[in-house]
Amino acid sequence: STRTPLMAGNWKMNLDWKQGLALVEELGDQLKGVSTDTVEVAVLPPFVDLRTVQMVVEADKLPITYGSQDVSAHESGAYTGEVSGSMLKALGATYTTVGHSERRQHHAETEEVTNAKVKASFAAGLVPILCVGEPLEERQAGKHVEYTLAQLTGGIEGLDAEQAKQIVIAYEPVWAIGTGEVATPDDAQEVCSAIRDALRGLYGNEVADAARVLYGGSVKSSNVVELMGKEDVDGALVGGASLKAEEFAKIAGFQG
Ligand code: G3H
Repeated sequence: STRTPLMAGNWKMNLDWKQGLALVEELGDQLKGVSTDTVEVAVLPPFVDLRTVQMVVEADKLPITYGSQDVSAHESGAYTGEVSGSMLKALGATYTTVGHSERRQHHAETEEVTNAKVKASFAAGLVPILCVGEPLEERQAGKHVEYTLAQLTGGIEGLDAEQAKQIVIAYEPVWAIGTGEVATPDDAQEVCSAIRDALRGLYGNEVADAARVLYGGSVKSSNVVELMGKEDVDGALVGGASLKAEEFAKIAGFQG
C-alpha cells in the first residue's frame, strides 16, 4: 500500500521532563540505525514534556514527530486544567490521541466528547489518533467488531472526506493493553480491515486506502513483525515498550 507505517509511542503518565529529554535523545541515537524514510516514528509524551521534546527534535533535527495524549474539546477560555489544540499546534505537535480506553474508563469520556475532541483536533490543525477497541466481555461474546465499529462511527461523525483521509485509527482491544496479551495477527487484521471497510462504506476508496489503521496492545519488538505483515495493519500504538529507546527503535525498524 502507499500508506506510510506509523509507530507511535504513548508514554502515558510516565517520565517527567528530564526523563523525557533523556529518552528522546537516546531514541534519536537509536534511530540512526533505522531507515526512517519508510516509517514514521512518533512520541506522545505527557503535556509537560512536550516543550522539551520540541526543542530536542528541532535542535537535533530528529526524524521524530510528536503529539499529545489528549486535547480539550474546547477552543479556549474558562476550562481550568484543559489544554487546547492550538496550544499543542504551537508546540509543533502533529498528533493527539483521542478516546484512549483509559480516558473512556477513568475519565468518563463519552462518545460525544470523543467526537468533539476529534473535531477540535482538526480545527486546530492536529491529526487525531482515534482509539477504539472492545473490552474482554465483548470479545468473548463475539461482538468485538460491532462494538469497535460503533466507537469508530461515533468518533468520526460529521468529518468530511479530507479529514477522514488524514485521521489515524488505533484499534486497541482493552484486554490487550498493558497485559502482555497481544492480539494475534489474524485478530488484529480482522478488526483493522473491518475498520477500513467501514471507512470505505462511508467515504469511498480514496479515504479508505489513505487512512492509517494502527494496532495497539502489548506490542513489542518480538511481535511487531508478524503484526505488520498484515495487510490492514499500518503501524502500532505502543505503550510500555515505547519507554525504552532501544526497544522502541527496534519496533520502528520492523522491516529489518
Ligand atoms: O496506547 C497504547 C496502548 O494502550 C498500548 O499499551 O503497549 O502498554 O499494552 P501497551
